[in-house]
Amino acid sequence: MHILNTAKKFKIKVNPILLKHKILASLFFEPSTRTRFSFESAMERLGGSIISLAEAKSSSASKGESVSDSIKIVDKYCDVIAMRHSLEGSARLASEVSNNPILNGGDGANQHPTQTFLDLFSILETQKKLKGLNVALVGDLKYGRTTHSLAYALGMFGARLFFIAPPSLQMPSYVTHDLKKLKAKYSTHTEPERIMPKLDIFYATRIQKERFGDPMEYEKVKDAYIITNKLLTKVKKNFKILHPLPRVNEINYEVDNTPYAYYFEQANNGLFVREALLALVLGKV
Ligand code: CP
Repeated sequence: MHILNTAKKFKIKVNPILLKHKILASLFFEPSTRTRFSFESAMERLGGSIISLAEAKSSSASKGESVSDSIKIVDKYCDVIAMRHSLEGSARLASEVSNNPILNGGDGANQHPTQTFLDLFSILETQKKLKGLNVALVGDLKYGRTTHSLAYALGMFGARLFFIAPPSLQMPSYVTHDLKKLKAKYSTHTEPERIMPKLDIFYATRIQKERFGDPMEYEKVKDAYIITNKLLTKVKKNFKILHPLPRVNEINYEVDNTPYAYYFEQANNGLFVREALLALVLGKV
């Protein structure tokens, strides 16, 4: 809540000199639009500077340098590191060899915690509360790292979670194991229709093509869920659709013009949340 409250203050008013003379290393070994650009924009808007890596092949990772060696070096050139890497656990590994703070912008199919903060911020903005909401996480729950992080967070806020996915892409057992320990309420489903009237939030996700070993397996599930206006006829007034983006086929473009679409505002909130995270880890707020 402290991070979300700090982000709200930045959304109202930004301090353009707060992070003057601080340097963000923005290390994206995997592709990104929203996470990388919002971290970099956040740093610029707070008066800081950036050194940036947009793809692994333009760094010495392409010559075989390990994650830990890369981080040990870049750590010397900056004050904070935001990183994304395909290796699960890479952000934790980085935090063990770095003297500066590490912000995890996604580690393989594992976690995407800064996304969760902007998701929570957007849920709070639209629902005016975080406790006790009915939330469906839909699509690729196996490889979709945003859903893993968000399920933990919503579990802590007492949400009723509906996991809607093809059987082969359901929430991994290591996540549900932890949710049980949190006493989080959840159920698994393959179809959304009957659940729609109960929901406050429908969190759609892309089927993560790049994480499938067998392309035929991807072909079987790639269009498992496509939201159209027809699916939205019986939803509650406060109902909102979120999506971490990018979307491929999951949300028909006609849905963008309904009052339920909130995914572009959600992406915009990434800026304020990442301003808050940078300022907090650098001890400036
Ligand atoms: N939501 C998200 O992580 O988007 P990008 O992959 O564009 O950073």
